[in-house]
Amino acid sequence: MIDDLIDGETLEERKAFFDAVYIRADGDDNQVPWSGEDAKPEVLNWLEDNPARNGAKALDIATGLGEHAQALARAGYKVTAFDLADKAIAWAKTRFPNMPEHNPVTYVGADLFNLPEEWGQFELVHECYTIQSLPDDLRIGAFKAIADAVASGGTLLVYARIRPDGSDWDQAPWPVMPSEFLRFEEAGLIKVHEVDFLRDGGRRKDIPHRFAIYRKP
Ligand SMILES: C[S@@+](CC[C@H](N)C(=O)[O-])C[C@H]1O[C@@H](n2cnc3c(N)ncnc32)[C@H](O)[C@@H]1O
Repeated sequence: MIDDLIDGETLEERKAFFDAVYIRADGDDNQVPWSGEDAKPEVLNWLEDNPARNGAKALDIATGLGEHAQALARAGYKVTAFDLADKAIAWAKTRFPNMPEHNPVTYVGADLFNLPEEWGQFELVHECYTIQSLPDDLRIGAFKAIADAVASGGTLLVYARIRPDGSDWDQAPWPVMPSEFLRFEEAGLIKVHEVDFLRDGGRRKDIPHRFAIYRKP
């Protein structure tokens, strides 16, 4: 369904790739390979143990079709969810219409590398599968941009495909290497949890993944 699309290397080319995936899927979320009906189980478990306190704000990085943003909102967070792809944002806004029991998610088009200053920082930041979707030249800045969005005392949840350090990889997505995760610590975060595991994804089985949790002092 998307094998013929050109991955691209620049921000504009990556945007064109994602726009094409969402446009081609045409409202069928089964055609968006990274999308699921609900947030990842590791994220849901963390949210169960850590519901929002005192109206805490959360940011969902590059939300895609919004299932993680909705899970954060169900846990009581006031959620801003952004994505570069306007089609994804429009779709996410209509995908979960009947959830009156929690704060509505604010879905908005934005670029990770140029987030509005007025958003400030967030008590909870959630990132799933964005870093791996960025080629090397773009992703170096992504770690800092994500870390900078975390408020002092706040938490970052990261969910990613991983691959061994030094391994070659010639097509998108480019799974994250363990040494790359150190960039979060270089950006001022402290790692408090990390687990590696195999998980099915799309048409492939047993794909190495990592779920990591960081706090900002
Ligand atoms: C693999 S998808 C993951 C979506 C979502 N986080 C999830 O877990 O389903 C990567 C997303 O990153 C978005 N994206 C890529 N570059 C971006 C950027 N610079 N700023 C914001 N979103 C971006 C794409 O449009 C796409 O929706």
